[in-house]
Amino acid sequence: MEAQAKRKVMLSGIQPSGDLHLGNYLGAIQNWRDRAEEFDCYYFMADLHTITVRQTPADLRRRTLEQLAQYIACGLDPERNTLFIQSHVPQHAQLGWVLNCFTMFGELSRMTQFKDKSAKHGDNVNGGLFTYPALMAADILLYQPDYVPVGEDQKQHVELTRNIVQRFNGIYGEVFRMPEPYIPKAGARIMGLTAPDSKMSKSAPEGCVFLMERPEDIQRKFKRAVTDSDTERCVRYDPAAKPGVSNLMNIYSAVTGKDYAQIEREFDGQGYGAFKPAVGDAVIEALRPIREEAERILKDKAYLEQVYRTGAQRAGYVADKTLCKVYRKVGFVAL
Ligand code: TYM
Repeated sequence: MEAQAKRKVMLSGIQPSGDLHLGNYLGAIQNWRDRAEEFDCYYFMADLHTITVRQTPADLRRRTLEQLAQYIACGLDPERNTLFIQSHVPQHAQLGWVLNCFTMFGELSRMTQFKDKSAKHGDNVNGGLFTYPALMAADILLYQPDYVPVGEDQKQHVELTRNIVQRFNGIYGEVFRMPEPYIPKAGARIMGLTAPDSKMSKSAPEGCVFLMERPEDIQRKFKRAVTDSDTERCVRYDPAAKPGVSNLMNIYSAVTGKDYAQIEREFDGQGYGAFKPAVGDAVIEALRPIREEAERILKDKAYLEQVYRTGAQRAGYVADKTLCKVYRKVGFVAL
């Protein structure tokens, strides 16, 4: 029991607000795999977060289960990883409230994701969108993780979580463990294929490759990927001068494990015409087994239900221990 308590912990989540895409996979999920030997791993569907933007209820329900099937298909064995749906563990919302009271207005105002989303959804700049990072801090801190594997765009939220830990522990003693963002070397920030100046996201679907997409559609997107209008037309890593090609090199590197020098040598003298479909092929081959396995798992609704029920139970047990401690520390009367 004691040895188990000392194991390192890893935790992360993804919003089921859209279908999982290559950015989610390379920026986050690839780093979640094969960690169960070393860490106690918690991965969840962040459904509470999705309603900061309007969702169609039936779509949200469907995508949440699809996401669970895709997590498993990506190699997360539910026997060895705790996979759960955020709204099934009420301690997230409960600790979220407490942490709201330890998060400053000024800090929340500086969050890039808030600025982006409030600009994009100007007719619905709600309180949840603003206080979202306090809920994310609760998601993290309930499980006392050592590492939070995320893409570059979520680093700011993990940094804010660290500020909250410092503030809270400063008042009440060592309640929370200090978490660290865990960001991959390749794939931390995948840009859109049609607009390499903004991150790949479901809101620009033509430049976004989805995990469940058909190979011919993936290949079409790569063939149409925006490259650069320089005259040299060679495959060389230079994000400032050649953002399109550099993004494709980043993807190719994250999928194949090759470094940039190797990739430059591989495509030396071949131009973009050969490079783009090669990246497409590598991505198709990486995603094929995931798509096939996810389709198979998704048909077995009883299995999925059993996975998320077990996950909620395991997660709830750990989350409750942390929440009780926090309630006690802040002075709430125990029931
Ligand atoms: P979300 O749902 O926007 O993204 C999920 C994960 O995918 C990564 N990611 C990317 N990585 C590289 N390139 C991209 N283009 C790209 N797009 C997305 C994100 O960095 C993230 O790791 N707030 C979080 C969800 C969340 C969470 C948490 C994460 C809620 N609670 C607790 C960790 C811990 C979010 O909106 O991620």
